[in-house]
Amino acid sequence: MVLNDFNKLEARAMSQQEIFEVALPKVEHVAAGAVLLRSYAETSQAAVLESIHQIEASSPFRHMVTPGGFRMSVAMTNAGRIGWVTDRSGYRYSPLDPLSGRAWPHLPGLLSRLASDAAASAGFPSFEPDVCLINRYAPGARMALHQDKDERDFDQPIVSLSLGLPATFMFGGLKRTDKPLRIRLLSGDVIVWGGVNRLAYHGIAPLPKGVHPLTGAFRINLTFRCGL
Ligand code: SIN
Ligand code: FE2
Repeated sequence: MVLNDFNKLEARAMSQQEIFEVALPKVEHVAAGAVLLRSYAETSQAAVLESIHQIEASSPFRHMVTPGGFRMSVAMTNAGRIGWVTDRSGYRYSPLDPLSGRAWPHLPGLLSRLASDAAASAGFPSFEPDVCLINRYAPGARMALHQDKDERDFDQPIVSLSLGLPATFMFGGLKRTDKPLRIRLLSGDVIVWGGVNRLAYHGIAPLPKGVHPLTGAFRINLTFRCGL
């Protein structure tokens, strides 16, 4: 009788553990302060893409120019109270979209919640994004190693969501010459970096050709930042 009760209790405990395994995101350690949440947005990615279509209807993707005069291979747009831009006069955040002359589209609640929840799962509990920079990569597009350092407050992490075609994310150290890890990012994966690695160099290797059921011939990446 007693043994039977014990078995029942154990059975209940096991099923709770199974529930946690389903409910809790898989957190893979990348480096100090940096984690990969595999498939984190798997179930919401179609809704995320729908939000992106709404954003691009008022602020379309465009190829910006670097301060050195090079056209970026990645097409970009933003949502939020401010947006990241680059042109001949430098990298900066701007409250207006230079293309439309109007404010950037507001950041949909679905996206800001997803970013805050992902940050919390990665150990950063008070992340509320001000901006979402949306990058669109066609095959061959790449992002050279760089630091995200146009923000004022480096206490908050960067939250980065990948959609569509797989890409190789390079995650280096605090010096440009530090050899980067190469991480294959798939649709729905989220990577979060902050703390001692907030200013780590990172980039994307040239995107291989492919077709993805969600995004066709593209990869789309959303990076959420705050502290601007
Ligand atoms: C970025 O660093 O701005 C983009 C990274 C990515 O596309 O995954
Ligand atoms: Fe970046």
